[in-house]
Amino acid sequence: MTRFRPEFTWGVSTSAYQIEGATAEDGRTPSVWDTFCRRDGAIADSSTADVACDHYHRYAEDIALMADLGIDAYRLSTSWSRIIPDDSGKPNAAGLDFYDRLLDSVRDRGITPVVNLFHWDLPQWAQDAGGWRNRDTVERFAEYAAIVADRLADRVGNWAAINELFEHFVLGHVTGEHAPGLTLPLDEAGAVAHHLLLAAGHATEVLRAHGAASIMGINSYAPARPASDAEADVAMARFYDVLQNRLFTDPQLIGRYPEEAEPLVTPFVKDGDLEVISAPLDLWGVNYYSINSVRAVDGEIPLEVVAPQGYPLTAFDWAVAPEGLTETLTTLHTRYGEKLPPLVVSENGCTYHDSLDTEGRCDDPDRVAYLSEHLTAVRAAIDAGVDVRGYYVWSLLDNFEWAQGYTKRFGLVHVDYETQKRTPKTSFNWLRDHIAASR
Ligand code: FCB
Repeated sequence: MTRFRPEFTWGVSTSAYQIEGATAEDGRTPSVWDTFCRRDGAIADSSTADVACDHYHRYAEDIALMADLGIDAYRLSTSWSRIIPDDSGKPNAAGLDFYDRLLDSVRDRGITPVVNLFHWDLPQWAQDAGGWRNRDTVERFAEYAAIVADRLADRVGNWAAINELFEHFVLGHVTGEHAPGLTLPLDEAGAVAHHLLLAAGHATEVLRAHGAASIMGINSYAPARPASDAEADVAMARFYDVLQNRLFTDPQLIGRYPEEAEPLVTPFVKDGDLEVISAPLDLWGVNYYSINSVRAVDGEIPLEVVAPQGYPLTAFDWAVAPEGLTETLTTLHTRYGEKLPPLVVSENGCTYHDSLDTEGRCDDPDRVAYLSEHLTAVRAAIDAGVDVRGYYVWSLLDNFEWAQGYTKRFGLVHVDYETQKRTPKTSFNWLRDHIAASR
């Protein structure tokens, strides 16, 4: 068993759109994902998240599961279009009431809420006004942050503004695989990257002004390896490393864009922006799943990310590479030095073809192995001198996995989407025992 200090934070992460359902209830209006799901061919199983895990109605049962797991902290996101349904900016009381009840229930179980304001579900009304291409969206986001903080700050242990800026930028605005499904040329998409960063910075200011106890940044990281020794592959792997691992992190932590990315973003940067973007943070969240292999291709997007050779793969064809997590944590530590806040692994997990057996059990030995190996990888980084303070599994429940719909199960708990029955998997019991033993 991998041991951690008693004050190490154990948690699970979820996001609003992936679990809540109730997309048209109590005044919520569509987000870009509701719109995108209705586009032909956008979602692998042509599903929507209209019901998802029905967490909006079943949150008490889900929080009871978290209590049973023995976690310290629950990272969730709030749905912007549930809280601010239209461009008048007027808050929706029923939307705020939901999060009020939710946070009270989380705290009643002795679990600390970690609230992320944006996990990719921009209100459709904001997209109609230009979305993240439009600098005004930054102001709208700051207003939303103020409304949420006003209502919830007394119960939140830790805040985050935006989850994984890189994924939302690339998948949503360059490759078009995610909502809002745009395929902007890189130089136009540069506006999106800059405005996402600026929004996170402004929201941080707003949260501080509302007395936020602790605020973290959250990005995804993956070491980028060239697919071959060919010079073109090596160059593209280096460029992809800048895009994923530094484009968003450098400005947030050291207040400047990496030189290689400057042509993309400079046209959109105004005086004072980088000071806002680099507002100090208390924790740094690392979402880690896999390493990437990158090769050069001809085309508008001159590179392709492929599964690296020689590794076991998850059902997403993502390589199981725990050493990449140690590498990610230690690289952040050496790259940013004193500028790096203490780290938490804010997402880590895997998808396999989990199903219930005839006895109604869900045995997922591959997930147990994955979690165990990645915890060992976190421990290795701590032993190498990196300050890692917590670990959050993605995710508590099987859920709506974006463009993959319900075809990818990441949960510690199996969800039968017909009946909404929750069945803790073997990995749930394993993690519960692991957490209990490490106290
Ligand atoms: C991360 C996302 C999360 C989930 C996992 C599998 O990139 O933050 O919502 O989709 O991947």
